Amino acid sequence: MALSLVHGGHISYMGFGGAGVRGLKVESLPFNPEEMNVDVDAATKKIKEIKPTLVFLGASVILFPAPVKEIKKVLEEVNGFLVYDASHVLGLIVGKQFQDPLGEGADILTSSTHKTFPGPQGGIVCCKKVFAEKIDKAVFPGLVSNHHLHHIAGFAIALMEMERFGVEYAKQTVRNARALAENLYDKGFDVVCADKGFTKSHQVLVDVSRFGGGAKVASLLEEANIICNKNLLPKDDFRRAENPSGIRLGVNEVTRLGMKEGEMEEISGFMKNVVVDGVNPLKVARKVKAFTKKFSTVKYCFQKGKQAYKYFDFY
Ligand SMILES: Cc1ncc(COP(=O)(O)O)c(C=O)c1O
Repeated sequence: MALSLVHGGHISYMGFGGAGVRGLKVESLPFNPEEMNVDVDAATKKIKEIKPTLVFLGASVILFPAPVKEIKKVLEEVNGFLVYDASHVLGLIVGKQFQDPLGEGADILTSSTHKTFPGPQGGIVCCKKVFAEKIDKAVFPGLVSNHHLHHIAGFAIALMEMERFGVEYAKQTVRNARALAENLYDKGFDVVCADKGFTKSHQVLVDVSRFGGGAKVASLLEEANIICNKNLLPKDDFRRAENPSGIRLGVNEVTRLGMKEGEMEEISGFMKNVVVDGVNPLKVARKVKAFTKKFSTVKYCFQKGKQAYKYFDFY
């Protein structure tokens, strides 16, 4: 079995302006690469200037909580709405270890159901009551005609498991991400945002330009049975997409298999062997295979032999 460090991004904070779909204009929100976050002052200025109908806060690298309160406050002045794309961090939100976007003022939350939230592939929209009827109608009959019952059953189980184990799972996920980042940094990797504690989510972003770039490093790691994404960094031109400067790591899957901080140290060691020391990846692959053998059972979920209902107190 390979070590999967995927599901970790592209940075895509956006504002939509104009009336209706015709004449829709899409603009990016200003981004602060040092903070790896929206530049609140510059975004405030831009929102006041262009008066967007809708602002989307969403990214596929989310190391730190987005400034929901601040963006909502300025949007209120221009009668705009805020959508938070939680696709990558839903499991951390449900597990109460990240921000609470709806509580902080987002009008609508959209999300995948299969990244840090460990459900079947799909999507959800959560919103303030006032938007519910319009969104329901837009979804059906606007966009889809059918619900898939096997998916709904799987989603219900994932929701129940997150109700019961979500806090524990999300806590360990965030701890593991931090531990992996610290260990990689100590072993000579240029982990992004060292001065900010690296990460508050499940993701770790590493600048591997010194080692030949993201494409080369991701491919070497794959030969060693370690799966991760090559990833653009803010400093990269989009024309570098083929071989960007970074790799993106996500620890949600290895955490769900029961790995903790000690295992993050071991993983960082395998990565150092391949990337820094130049050890033949096929040699490391054998070690990774032996290492993953100990982690083949899914944790933070209902276990065989105990009925799911027994995990809950029903009144
Ligand atoms: C920011 C963001 N939003 C939404 C998605 C949609 O993901 P999916 O099609 O897997 O639900 C992605 C994909 O990774 C993403 O990066």
